[in-house]
Order: sequence, then C-alpha cells, then structure tokens
Amino acid sequence: MGKFLTIDDIEASDKRVIVRADLNVPIQGGKISDMTRIRRASQTVIELLDRGAKVIVMSHFGRPKGKFDPSLSLAPIADGLSITTGRDVKFAVDCIGAEAENAVEKLQEGELLLLENLRFYEGETANDPEFAAKLANLGDVYVNDAFSCSHREHASVAGITKILPHAAGRLMQEELENLENILGNPEKPLAAIIGGSKISTKLSLLDNLLDKVDLMVIGGGMANTFLKAQGHNIGKSIYEDDLLDTARAILARAQEKNCEILLPVDGVVTQEFKAYAESSIVGVVNIGDGMMLDIGPKTVSLAQEKLGNMKTIVWNGPLGAFEMPPFESGTVSLARAVAGLTSAGQVKSIAGGGDTVSAFSKAGLTKSFTYLSTAGGAFLEWLEGKELPGVACLRK
Ligand code: 3PG
Repeated sequence: MGKFLTIDDIEASDKRVIVRADLNVPIQGGKISDMTRIRRASQTVIELLDRGAKVIVMSHFGRPKGKFDPSLSLAPIADGLSITTGRDVKFAVDCIGAEAENAVEKLQEGELLLLENLRFYEGETANDPEFAAKLANLGDVYVNDAFSCSHREHASVAGITKILPHAAGRLMQEELENLENILGNPEKPLAAIIGGSKISTKLSLLDNLLDKVDLMVIGGGMANTFLKAQGHNIGKSIYEDDLLDTARAILARAQEKNCEILLPVDGVVTQEFKAYAESSIVGVVNIGDGMMLDIGPKTVSLAQEKLGNMKTIVWNGPLGAFEMPPFESGTVSLARAVAGLTSAGQVKSIAGGGDTVSAFSKAGLTKSFTYLSTAGGAFLEWLEGKELPGVACLRK
C-alpha cells in the first residue's frame, strides 16, 4: 500500500495481535439483521489465525456513553464472528483489566478472542491515553481493520497507535484502495446520487461535491427542501425550514460550476407515514396536502437516462423511506439501473452508508456495484475531502 504497513509487514506467529474491527451491526429483535460488516472483517482475522497469531478482536457496539449496558454487549456478536471465520470465538466480559488480561493469557497460537464493547468506558471516545495504554497492554501488534470507525479519534483507533507497532488490515486496505481507485482521480463525467432525510447532515458533502461532479441526483427528504426552496408546494412532506436559503445557494453555485442538479419531477405521495399506507404517484406540482415518501418512476427514468452518459457514479443515502414498503421502490429501481450500467462496463460505481447498503442488500444488489463500502460516517467524511484521524495514524 506504499503509505501504510499492512499485515504482510508484521510478524504474526505466536504474537498477540489486536485487531480493531467494526462489529457495530444492526440488530432487530435481538438478532443480527445484516452480517456484512462481520463477514468483511473476517478475512484479516482468518489470515492472522492461519499465520499462528493469537488474535484479539475489539470493537464498539452502539453508543452506550461510557456505561455498561447489557443490551449493547458484544457477546451475541461472537456467534456471528464464529460463523464468518469458521473458528471458535472466546469472549472476554471486559475489554480491559483482569478479565481481559486473563483471557488473553490463556490464548494459544491460532486462537481467537473477542473483547466486550469498548464504549462501556468513557476513555474510549475521549481517546484517554491511560485507557489506550490498557488496551495496548493486551497485545504486541495493533491492526486497524475498521475504516468505518476511522473518522473517530478514539483510543482504539488513534491513541493505541502511539503505543503499539501498527498496520492496516485487509478490509482497511480494500476500502482505501477502492475509494482511491474509483474516486481519487475519477473518470469523468462523474455523477453523485445523494439521498437521506436532511441537507443539514450533508452540507459539507454537497459543497465539496459541487466542485467535482457533473451531475447530482438528489432524492430522499432532503430533496423536499430544494423543491420548497424553488417555490413548490410540498404539502406535509418533511423539509428543513431554516435551510431554504442554503438550498437556493447550493442550486445557484451548481449552476456557476456547471453541475447539473436533478431533483424529483414526480414522487410517491401518501397521507400517512407508515408501511403499506395508501399512496399515489403524482408530479411534484401536484403534491397537494400529501407527503412525498419516495421518488417516482419518471424521476427514476430521467436519472437513468442521464446516468447512462456518466463514467463514474458515487451514491450515498436512500432516495425515499426505503425501510417501509412500498417507499423503497425508487431507491431499488435506480440501484438496479446503476447495477446494470456497472455490469455492462459503462460505469464504475461506488456506494456507502449504512442505510444505502442495507437498501441494496434487501434488493440483492450487494455484488452489483464496483465497490460497496462498509462505512457510513467515515465514507461521508472521506468524500468531503477530510483526512480521517484513524487513517492518518496508520501512515508510515
Ligand atoms: C458506523 O456505524 O458508522 C460506525 O460503526 C461508527 O459508529 P459511530 O457513529 O457510533 O461512531
């Protein structure tokens, strides 16, 4: 990788290797509802185990704010890790202190241990050097395989690299290489598909992308703010009242930069925010007193036609309330179109974001893009052009 050491550069045999993974997976009704992150974190673990390392996996899970919370224990994730690695996984009920130290002490070459949730301690998110030292004490070498956490300057991502020799894991390598290959110097024309409910969470992304992309397709709740800013009646659709001027400024800047913005021309409109609510497809001039929960088929066709002229497509955020049928249809149809362009060799496509990837996996499209990132916030910050602290710490 040039700029980073990787696990090829570390001695693994009989070493205690700490792997920071992102096992922060969605859970529904006590069950893991999407194994993607666990599966993709497994390659590094398997390679290190096969090389005779004693592998200690650590991760956060949810946001317990420095206190023990049994509902956010990583214990149930151990089974998932065992399935994806095909190995027994031992579990330590703490991530530092006597419990963790004893569990590490007992590890043999080629054995795997998962530590309890790092965020049960405030020291993790505070990047407390003492907490980082306690973590570091458990290993000889540190591997960061959690690109999706590398926008967090936390002890297990940043602080620990000051103490232990460190390297990038396979998933970290894959994420950085793909982002760099596809978007570092993208083949033009370049399009961005941006969804999600709020402009406010993506302001700096939109700003950064205006300088780079030729076409921006905007959907999801954030499109409503743009439509309202243009003077449309959007009924009771969600929008951000304090961002109407910002939306107008973005549209004006896009024009200056020759970046075409495609907003919905039609949508799926309903009276109630619930799954299977009665709905109709109407033009955006006819929303009346309804609420728009998805882009409509004309918008999908228009976007598809314009995307057909592109060479690179980056996607973040669903284009409707994808978690409630039938409002996933716009996101899924356009994702199928991008998948088709990708498999025809017409475009390179990359997508990231928890909701985006979960919408694609529901539609069976996880293998249809050139690359799907496991990252949400980190993917956004990378796209915004920010240096991620966890990545910076890994540099040689
Ligand atoms: C994510 O889900 O994006 C990562 O696990 C980071 O989680 P966080 O936003 O709680 O830091």
